[in-house]
Amino acid sequence: MLLHFLVLGAFVFLADGYFSEEMYQEESKMQPPTVVIAILARNTAHSLPYYLGALERLNYPKARITVWAATDHNTDNTTAILKEWLTVMQKFYHYVEWRPMDQPTSYAGESGPKHWPNSRYEYVMKLKQAAINFARKRWADYILYVDTDNILTNPETLNLMMAENMSAIAPMLDSQGAYSNYWCGITPQGYYRRTAEYFPTRQRHRLGCFPVPMIHSTMLLDLRKAGMKKLAFFPPHEDYSWPYDDIIVFAFSCRAAEVQMYLCNKERYGYLNVPAKPHQTLEDDRLNFVHLQLESMIDGPPMRPSRYVHMFPKQRDLMGFNEIYLINLRRRLDRRDRMLFSLNELEIDVKVVDAVDGNALNSSDIKILGVDLLPGYYDPFSGRTLTKGEVGCFLSHYFIWKEMVDLQMEKALVLEDDIRFQANFKRRVVRLMEEVEQAELDWDIIYFGRKQVNPTKEEAVENVHNLVMADYSYWTLSYAISLQGAQKLLNAEPLSKMLPVDEFLPIMYDKHPNKDYKSHFTNRNVHAFSTRPLVVQPCHYAGDPQWVSDTETSTLWDDDAVRTDWRGSHKTLKGAAPPAGVLSATYKDEL
Ligand SMILES: *[C@@H]1O[C@H](CO)[C@@H](O)[C@H](O)[C@H]1NC(C)=O
Ligand SMILES: *[C@@H]1O[C@H](CO)[C@@H](O)[C@H](O)[C@H]1NC(C)=O
Ligand SMILES: *[C@@H]1O[C@H](CO)[C@@H](O)[C@H](O)[C@H]1NC(C)=O
Repeated sequence: MLLHFLVLGAFVFLADGYFSEEMYQEESKMQPPTVVIAILARNTAHSLPYYLGALERLNYPKARITVWAATDHNTDNTTAILKEWLTVMQKFYHYVEWRPMDQPTSYAGESGPKHWPNSRYEYVMKLKQAAINFARKRWADYILYVDTDNILTNPETLNLMMAENMSAIAPMLDSQGAYSNYWCGITPQGYYRRTAEYFPTRQRHRLGCFPVPMIHSTMLLDLRKAGMKKLAFFPPHEDYSWPYDDIIVFAFSCRAAEVQMYLCNKERYGYLNVPAKPHQTLEDDRLNFVHLQLESMIDGPPMRPSRYVHMFPKQRDLMGFNEIYLINLRRRLDRRDRMLFSLNELEIDVKVVDAVDGNALNSSDIKILGVDLLPGYYDPFSGRTLTKGEVGCFLSHYFIWKEMVDLQMEKALVLEDDIRFQANFKRRVVRLMEEVEQAELDWDIIYFGRKQVNPTKEEAVENVHNLVMADYSYWTLSYAISLQGAQKLLNAEPLSKMLPVDEFLPIMYDKHPNKDYKSHFTNRNVHAFSTRPLVVQPCHYAGDPQWVSDTETSTLWDDDAVRTDWRGSHKTLKGAAPPAGVLSATYKDEL
């Protein structure tokens, strides 16, 4: 009998006459607060699968979330994608409010889908107001606004923001540039004001949750707090004279209600796309987003699409080249995966070539291949000779040139695998190659990614935009090469007088500062150009936490016992480096 009472957790009166507290069953836990997530979608078919993927992965009980979703004025497939997702997801969420509007597809006075006439600002203010009214009516504890090109890749974002216990708070989102979802300053007229705090915050040199005059795009409002009743997006506050813009109207409303906005940057929470400019198109917006996706692959966590949205396979092509080669070491699967994913997003077809693994070559293999060191070659910074990794890298490029000549291939594009594509890489390269063709330029090599040693000295090419005559450069991150160029490089018989491939090319276009090296190659008549600005950068620089070089961290080419490491490669450091042979005293001291 006693046992039975214990199990039920009822009061038990013990024989010696007092109540034992241990006999009480614990109270059951509180349910988490209720949240309304407000989705206002317009013309974001390109980002929606990733946006929705991030929402569905938020680590928060869906039974405590209501989704309020509106979509209107679309010219793309936004409505269908949202509907497809909500149809599956509604059984998991507490409730789904769906407000689609098919017509019209544009706003009055709108010059294009990226233009914001006042009619559009007003409509968005009214929608945001409708969402907060809805949340209040349902006594939701929180409302979370997330723009549809903001991707919350960190599934803890909602919990982390709640834990700060602020009235109005935003997780700092990363973008392709300096842009983010907060301001640190506001002018007396309500415009953006530059401040000393912005960049240190954006770059996470100072970490925390900071009071700021503006958060936007993604923000969490705690509707239980007293001052929150007064906040409004529409109509604007009666004293309002600032610009007619939903984010500024709301920031003013917070200020008038004495609600402080906060921004947090303690962790990485996700990304937001830099919006295309008013005169640009949805395609520009999409390309910006693709660039953001590629950036998220490098700095992580990467974006992943929703499982419940249909995705069409990409249409890849060769950008007008006969072949595009991706050089990748078999044991570097992580890089291969990232590059293949990135190239697929860029709709670029590629042939993966297994790089020659220098570390797997022993000295006798190297001799059999006919490889011999260029007499007198020393790394300009460390003073060591060639590494096995550098031999492997040279051979990887060499075999591509050889294949081009064997197959009489007119032109090819070569990519290494630790590279970062600048925005619109594909469009810029295709346009450049068209102009090169029209100008009938006699070219052998065009660099897309390299390290310029003397950037100021380079002369622009007439009749082709963004092209310069290449001066001495390091690296071979990415370049186009013509059949004639490949033939010239093979004719030089470089295997028997090898030096790193990025030193060989400048010799061949006669811009290498070392006369001794040049004296071993008689026909230095390669026509080398480079894009300016460069459209490919390295992912990481020497000394970065994630930096690994397979060419420089290996062993010496003819001695397996001598290991080399990155301290021998000032070349790979970020920023300008002094040219070979011009070693400064400080560099020598460091080594
Ligand atoms: C639009 O999206 C829906 C749902 O994902 C899909 O079934 C449909 O094929 C898409 N239409 C176009 C034109 O992309
Ligand atoms: C959250 O903030 C409110 C004041 O807005 C305060 O009363 C409450 O104790 C705080 N909660 C916690 C858990 O700190
Ligand atoms: C070098 O490696 C090859 C296999 O790649 C092997 O046959 C050869 O015996 C090795 N030579 C030495 C000196 O270790």
